[in-house]
Amino acid sequence: MSTQKNILEWYQLAGVTEAIGEEPVNRLQPKTTTTEPLNPLNNLINDARNGAQKATDLEQLRQLLLSFDGCALKKTATQLVFGVGPLQPDVMCVGEAPGADEDRVGEPFVGESGQLLEKALNAIGLSRKKNCYISNIIPWRPPGNRTPSQSEIAMCLPFIRKHIELVKPKVLLCLGAVALSALMKKTGPISKARGTWMTYTYDGLNIPTMAVFHPAYLLRTPAQKKVFWKDLLAVRQFLDN
Ligand code: URA
Repeated sequence: MSTQKNILEWYQLAGVTEAIGEEPVNRLQPKTTTTEPLNPLNNLINDARNGAQKATDLEQLRQLLLSFDGCALKKTATQLVFGVGPLQPDVMCVGEAPGADEDRVGEPFVGESGQLLEKALNAIGLSRKKNCYISNIIPWRPPGNRTPSQSEIAMCLPFIRKHIELVKPKVLLCLGAVALSALMKKTGPISKARGTWMTYTYDGLNIPTMAVFHPAYLLRTPAQKKVFWKDLLAVRQFLDN
């Protein structure tokens, strides 16, 4: 009895004033393993995947993105920056995410790096008006142009995958490391992966793909423009053959 009194006094000292629960809990018993519930991020990725799968044309995909609330970037961005260009183009360029100019205008690659991209594409006979489609991995501007997080990329990936499927380009061009790692699951520096042909394989699609430096990087590092140009010439040659 005195032991029980001692325990009660100890509880009181420790601030325990109330007993909760009718049944004692054996905390030493190992937890029974049940199937782990999906965490919220996986739920959002599943929502994105199930949503994107429904689109049978670009307008439906655009509407699905407009109604998708899983990605917080949507709240801070001015508007959705979807894609621009014709269907079944020679090339589909996929960049990282819209910047301030794209967020304002609602079209990918319209700022300084976009103008550089357009000039380079024009020089190999491509343009968004004729035969080149342009989009991004992330369709909403990240605040302050920060690099999108892995969870933001994972959430937007089903949409850009569907986008590629619906656009049906002959060649896919990954602009920069984010597009390369998201679409091709390649880690490591873009300086190593760029300029070599790969195949984008997804859901029955097999599209010849090349990674090139991101145009924004070229603005900061003009010396690399010649490497970018060499890669674009390889794309031109591939299309001509
Ligand atoms: N950078 C990108 O990756 N995408 C754009 O649309 C603009 C700048």
